[in-house]
Amino acid sequence: MTNIIAFESSADETSVAIVQDGHKVLSNSVATQINSHQRFGGIVPEVASRHHLEWITRVLDDALDQAQLTPADIDAVAVTYGPGLVGSLLVGLMGAKTFAMAHDLPLIGVNHLAGHIAAANFNQPIEYPALALMVSGGHTELVLMPKENQFEVLGETRDDAAGESFDKVGRLLHLDYPAGKAIDEMAQRGQPDFSFPTAMAHEDNYDFSFSGLKSAVINYVHHAEQKHEAINADDVATAFQNAVVTALLGRTKRALENYPVRSFILAGGVAANHQLRAALTDLLKQFPQTKFIPVPLAYTGDNAAMIGAAGYWNYKENRFADLTLNTEPGLDFERS
Ligand code: KG4
Ligand code: ZN
Repeated sequence: MTNIIAFESSADETSVAIVQDGHKVLSNSVATQINSHQRFGGIVPEVASRHHLEWITRVLDDALDQAQLTPADIDAVAVTYGPGLVGSLLVGLMGAKTFAMAHDLPLIGVNHLAGHIAAANFNQPIEYPALALMVSGGHTELVLMPKENQFEVLGETRDDAAGESFDKVGRLLHLDYPAGKAIDEMAQRGQPDFSFPTAMAHEDNYDFSFSGLKSAVINYVHHAEQKHEAINADDVATAFQNAVVTALLGRTKRALENYPVRSFILAGGVAANHQLRAALTDLLKQFPQTKFIPVPLAYTGDNAAMIGAAGYWNYKENRFADLTLNTEPGLDFERS
């Protein structure tokens, strides 16, 4: 048995988790700072770093308590070193290095994006080759995994990330940040008699674009304001979400047709979206050789357990870091 303690602090969640053999979560302590950022409509980097500093030791103690383990039971320390906000990443990295040094444990650097995908192992074991749709606040990527811990980006967003578009439309509709969950709920009530365009639907690639959709929603709302007409926010949410899901589905379908894979993973914060999960469940019926493995709802948002899962992949390959490990705020899949 291998127990990995994992640190995650790339954005506005401070989290420490202990994961056994890459798939069994012994503890996952998460402190969120959303309330501190809400009034600014987004994450304020300086505020985020300070919160991480205040919380990291408490979250660490909590993770050990929850798991009822002591440092002597731990085999390795995994930590997110990118992508993310540099000041935020540094706090988790320092915490992890200190723990590793104090207890003489090996250190493992983990790519946050790989972490999101590895969280699918909390649902059921990923079989390879696998395809992953990674949709979060900062990223929208279709990733082919020929083998465990190998990533080939097939397509990605050319502008806004899927989650970012939810948050921007939420701002327009005067919703709190982050707005994905609220829009998800509103979209279940709306019955629009209009629709918004799906970008690049006919282009022969796997890329995404969401800024045109965002502009269409802005135009719709402003146009109504100019004519002093009330908008139905639920209808706007439904039409917007329909367009996002259509775009994600179209690209995913093409990728599944061209790459016969054994697993299809849905990961990242937006993977919590009800309509997206339902639409993909339906789509996968056309691909009976492919298992649909959505990340369990408890692990779609940022958390350290997913870093422990991806850390275990590196552990098995003896991919360890030393204490010179630094943050890489712009890290992507190609360099993970
Ligand atoms: O993965 P994540 O927690 O953080 C990043 O690494 O970015 O993703 C956060 C994003 C936010 O944009 C949030 O609005 C979105 O995930 N989100 C959702 C839902 N829940 C969270 N988007 C759509 N539907 C949801 N239910
Ligand atoms: Zn994330």
